[in-house]
Amino acid sequence: MTLRKIAQIGHPVLRQRARELSPEELASPATQALIDDLVETMRDANGAGLAAPQVHASVRICVLEVKDNPRYPYKPNIPLTILVNPVLTPIGDTTFENYEGCLSVPDLRGVVRRHAELRVDALDRRGAPIALVARGITAGTYQHECDHLDGVLFVDRVTDPTTLCTWKEFARHREEAFKATVRDVVARFGS
Ligand code: NI
Repeated sequence: MTLRKIAQIGHPVLRQRARELSPEELASPATQALIDDLVETMRDANGAGLAAPQVHASVRICVLEVKDNPRYPYKPNIPLTILVNPVLTPIGDTTFENYEGCLSVPDLRGVVRRHAELRVDALDRRGAPIALVARGITAGTYQHECDHLDGVLFVDRVTDPTTLCTWKEFARHREEAFKATVRDVVARFGS
């Protein structure tokens, strides 16, 4: 496994629509190595998720994992999940405000409105179908990662630019209030 370089905002690969993978391409050693590297690179950077375009591979794969994450100490845990060709379908129209950051957008966070419940259809790394429902903060993470596959960054979805802040100022001025939001979302949606 190899740590891959993470593309930073301004690199065109982050703005392309990534392409679907065929079953043959998914099974190839190159794609399986890409998946291993995505997981290792996400863990090394303390990310909650990482999408293939963020490591300069414009294909529809993303990985998610939250396990007592020091970068997001208030986030509910998510077991390691690998999504290939994912499709997200909102359930209902309930939304919540999520304070997001991104490994491709250095030292910036901002408030983004996300669907609170989603159906997730995808393939796993072996090509078997995955169907699950994601809720709450976890649903926000799914939406953030799948946005990367369409060339969308969280900053595109920030409707109030006054919420933009560095990680240091987030901790100093925004984190306490956001933790209360997280507690409320977790109480309502279970994650
Ligand atoms: Ni991101």
